[in-house]
Amino acid sequence: MAEPAPLILHPDAPAYGGAMVAREGSGQVTLVTLAIPGETVLARPTGRRGGAAFARTVEVLRPSDFRVTPRCPHFGTCGGCAYQHIARQRQLEIKREVVAQLWARNQLRLPPDAEVVGMDDPWRYRIRGEFEFFENGGRLEIGFHAERSHRLVAIEGCPIHDQRIERAALAFRDALAELRVVGAQNVLLTVEPNGPGLLWSLRMRGRGRPAPAALPAMVAERLPDLVLLDDSIAFEFWDLHFRVRSATFIQTNYRQMLELYRLVLEMLAPASGDRILDVYSGIGTIGIAAARSAARVTCIEENPQAVQLGALAARINRTGNVEFVAARAGTALAACRVGDHEAAVVDPPRAGLEPEAVAELLRLGPDRIVYVSCDPATQARDLAALVRGGYRVRRAALVDMFPQTYHIETVVLLERG
Ligand SMILES: C[S@@+](CC[C@H](N)C(=O)[O-])C[C@H]1O[C@@H](n2cnc3c(N)ncnc32)[C@H](O)[C@@H]1O
Repeated sequence: MAEPAPLILHPDAPAYGGAMVAREGSGQVTLVTLAIPGETVLARPTGRRGGAAFARTVEVLRPSDFRVTPRCPHFGTCGGCAYQHIARQRQLEIKREVVAQLWARNQLRLPPDAEVVGMDDPWRYRIRGEFEFFENGGRLEIGFHAERSHRLVAIEGCPIHDQRIERAALAFRDALAELRVVGAQNVLLTVEPNGPGLLWSLRMRGRGRPAPAALPAMVAERLPDLVLLDDSIAFEFWDLHFRVRSATFIQTNYRQMLELYRLVLEMLAPASGDRILDVYSGIGTIGIAAARSAARVTCIEENPQAVQLGALAARINRTGNVEFVAARAGTALAACRVGDHEAAVVDPPRAGLEPEAVAELLRLGPDRIVYVSCDPATQARDLAALVRGGYRVRRAALVDMFPQTYHIETVVLLERG
């Protein structure tokens, strides 16, 4: 079938998800990727999804002043970074516009003084990465998915990852190829922010197949400056000590995590008499940090491994006033009593708060809720529900945890009444 003819488009606003919105004379709306608002581009239609038409820029006819040369040679084929062609400051403004739009769609107004915390050096920030393996013409490759596709794109590096992760991903590929291993699916790599530890977890196709026994030694030979670990690594910030496993969540941008947590604690403002809920707590990084200034913290987390590491961290840090509850948020909150908590932090995954969690938070009615989110669309939906339930937005901030990509992290303070 012949490819559809390219269109001349004039994108004028960002959409959440990496594309820009172009409205043409006929009223047709197209979401165009690899463009910048204000540009004129020639774009090839790439199909429809969820009622919207998509297109991909093939030529920039009138470039924006904010267009820059992407640093990564895989930009445009790899689907990982949607914003590498946009100047750093403009990326931040675009993210702010996206959040404001999503709030407006939910009858909320993003506070005009909402701050946006960018990075001075927005590269090499990821301390965790997952790389897919695939065969290409008899050669083992590592790569990521192409834009809006299941197709894998081979890469030789990735400048948003810590250099040690990039080297380790290539070392795994080369060692697997040398051992002629068939059936490697992907590898999850995490490096210690302040040490030589490299945590690895290899998934083989076919359930239960172990990693080849000779692999770790062979990879280690290629990475003499790193210590390969397959159980856990150290994760330290401020003067707190944690252990992290491959199966437990961590913030992938360590440098910005420090900014995020600073803002969370500032908004939470834990006082010596406060009893605090840390819901969706992971290994308890926020909860244990907050416990130093609070009376008591209850961390709620469904992943038993994270709960185990959280309890361990509480012991290592001698934080006696933290408890961990291994349960889903809605279930654990349902067991809490009204009046028992002055404040709550919630930091759910992309899906946002489960409806029972919203209902239970409204029943419990803590004075302050600090809502941390990696998906501003679901967060705006949940904020609207909390505002309908009697809370007011007092402060909001964006922390750019994912420069060069369209992903957005936000933190919002709500107060009751
Ligand atoms: C975005 S992470 C936040 C972790 C932590 N606040 C941090 O900064 O590292 C979300 C966490 O919520 C957990 N989770 C996901 N769904 C959950 C649910 N329904 N109930 C409780 N925990 C859940 C995940 O296992 C993950 O650890």
